[in-house]
Amino acid sequence: MEFEHRSNMGICDKRADMIVHQAEPYNAEPPPGALVGQVTPLDTFYGRNHGPFPLIDKASWRLRVDGLVENPLELSLDELQRRFPERNLVATLQCAGNRRADLMLFHDIPGQVPWGPAAISTACWGGAGLADVLAEAGLQAQATHIAFTGADVSQDTDPPQPFGASIPAAKATAGEVLLAWAMNDQALPTAHGAPLRVVVPGWIGARSVKWLQRITAQAEPTDNYFQAEYSILPPEADPRTAGPGDGITLGPIAIHCAILQPGKDAQLPSGPTKVTGFAFAGDDRTVARVDVSPDGGNLWIHADLDTAENPWTWQHWHTTLTLPPGETELVARAWDDTAAVQPESPATVWNPRGYANNSWARLHVTCSH
Ligand code: MTE
Repeated sequence: MEFEHRSNMGICDKRADMIVHQAEPYNAEPPPGALVGQVTPLDTFYGRNHGPFPLIDKASWRLRVDGLVENPLELSLDELQRRFPERNLVATLQCAGNRRADLMLFHDIPGQVPWGPAAISTACWGGAGLADVLAEAGLQAQATHIAFTGADVSQDTDPPQPFGASIPAAKATAGEVLLAWAMNDQALPTAHGAPLRVVVPGWIGARSVKWLQRITAQAEPTDNYFQAEYSILPPEADPRTAGPGDGITLGPIAIHCAILQPGKDAQLPSGPTKVTGFAFAGDDRTVARVDVSPDGGNLWIHADLDTAENPWTWQHWHTTLTLPPGETELVARAWDDTAAVQPESPATVWNPRGYANNSWARLHVTCSH
């Protein structure tokens, strides 16, 4: 199928105060304070794109399921909706480049989007279970990876390539992965992949392929450029010459957290102050504890943590800290239920493409006497 491309501008109904890192392709995150709700409104949900939105004719659009399957499928959206039970799941999506800006302060990362802490959002997704569709197609025994191909073509590669990704068959058939046509009880917006996108809960956003047109069962991970691009290279590697096998391919997200309130560089009265945020454990882990410090990490207080609706979402937390007069650094760090904790410094996790910065959340504030 060939698709025309259309500009990202004008089809993207986002709030006026989005922090737009790039207009074309559209790459934007909301102000962190907008992430206070359990579910993120559609106009606030971050957008991450590697090319222009494809122009898709919904009437002629088909999803192909092929490769190492017994019964290759070709499904219209209507057939997908009629033949498979609709599943709904609240799940958080997070870009692997979230918080790259803090890594850049330690050491520059040229040519990459300087994401702040809000390239993360949560939606209630509705669609068919990928496991149900793969069961109908009948996976052959050698099918150990499931590859997804989108309809958008990215100029990041030479020659240009459609965006793609793959996940192991074990994750693809685990039950939580959706082929979503709805987001927050509305039709999936163009900006988020209409008519159909993959949602891989607990994994980096790059594996949740938008504008999905093909699912291929295969014996190896996909050789699509973006599968290897989303990997952690060793600090000394040159990303321009690194090969696909040189990095650690990213999948499940590592435990991390953010401070939402007060805002960055806030001027506050000293004394008791409400501090709120969220933590996200990634994969099927949950957040076990969040520690918050009013003084750069000397004194630690345990925050009150909201109960997780399911393992696939962030968990909001809150506490009251007594802030000293003058300048101070609020710090938060989260632990997951495997006892993994966030590393202290961006320097520990710095990597040449600037992915997976899960170091402690830090926020500078000034308090009056
Ligand atoms: N799918 C396609 N087809 N093209 C893309 O550029 N970006 C990926 C993923 N799926 C992308 C894609 C990345 S890197 C992320 S973080 C998420 O989509 C972002 O999803 P969103 O724009 O709906 O927030």
